[in-house]
Amino acid sequence: MGGKSKILIIGGTGYIGKYIVEASAKAGHPTFALVRESTLSNPAKAQVIDKFKALGVNFVHGDLYDYDNLVNAIKQVDVVISTVGHLQLADQVKIIAAIKEAGNVKRFFPSEFGIDVDRVHAVEPAKSAFVTKAKIRRAIEAEGIPHTFVSSNYFAGYFLPTLAQPGVFAPPPPRDKVIIYGDGNPKVIFNKEDDIGTYTIRAVDDPRTLNKILYLRPPKNIYSFNELVALWEKKIGKTIEKIYLPEEKILKDIEESPIPINVVLSINHSAFVKGDQTNFEIEPSFGVEASELYPDVKYTTVEEYLEQFV
Ligand SMILES: NC(=O)c1ccc[n+]([C@@H]2O[C@H](COP(=O)([O-])OP(=O)(O)OC[C@H]3O[C@@H](n4cnc5c(N)ncnc54)[C@H](OP(=O)(O)O)[C@@H]3O)[C@@H](O)[C@H]2O)c1
Repeated sequence: MGGKSKILIIGGTGYIGKYIVEASAKAGHPTFALVRESTLSNPAKAQVIDKFKALGVNFVHGDLYDYDNLVNAIKQVDVVISTVGHLQLADQVKIIAAIKEAGNVKRFFPSEFGIDVDRVHAVEPAKSAFVTKAKIRRAIEAEGIPHTFVSSNYFAGYFLPTLAQPGVFAPPPPRDKVIIYGDGNPKVIFNKEDDIGTYTIRAVDDPRTLNKILYLRPPKNIYSFNELVALWEKKIGKTIEKIYLPEEKILKDIEESPIPINVVLSINHSAFVKGDQTNFEIEPSFGVEASELYPDVKYTTVEEYLEQFV
């Protein structure tokens, strides 16, 4: 007794999942990844599978939609972390049912890893995804399953390489003209994916995060869009032309854009215009902040992150 919890990650071969699997294995938790057979033989996933093997990760063949197998997988561990993607969010009710049946789980982390879905002011289509995540929260609470909801805010790798420029998906960040959402004043938060993994795994056996929202708000990673551009200008030693996109124009663009551009735009509207990542205080009754709980974690700052693009 008293050893490190055994952790099962469902969705571990996905974008954020692989960082969580890695952090778990490196922290010395017996780590289990529920992986579909088709993923194991997918050449596109070979690199991540090989990395897991090198880290000593235990593979459990399974599928979110194979209930009996899911229950058996869950029975082998103490903690379940779901990092399933957008399309499987609602079907996490299957994990909830399996956890109830297995009866041994000390903590469940559903697939969240973004904005606090109980405190957003998003428009469609982001709104529906947030509502789905909130319904999963309510189902977990209703079943009395011990849990932690990780609000990691923006993944650095999704937004910093392009400075969140609409329709741009690859680095480098702009050097001539930059589009700023709204007036550029609300504060947003960017966290490097490895740090999201590290903080999530720290929370697993921590009584302070039990039945709480774990917010990732490291002080050096909180910037308004204006401050972010000013930092980038300082780094490249150049002033950039700034184009401010009024809220009405953003809302119109969301309505007129196809998937997934409208999804990204509506998430950006919530964070950059409404300030939904930072426009509330973390009250001890519902939340805790990761960099305060784990001051020894040396997280990558936004300033350090941007250095690679200079
Ligand atoms: N804060 C941010 O900036 C940000 C950005 C993006 C996403 N997110 C959030 O992060 C969370 C994870 O998203 P992601 O983009 O990392 O997901 P992802 O890359 O789409 O990965 C989904 C994972 O689920 C697995 N999976 C799919 N169907 C499955 C099934 N039937 N049974 C078992 N596993 C299955 C996939 O397996 P394969 O590897 O075989 O495909 C993959 O490992 C979501 O809640 C999302 O909203 C946040």
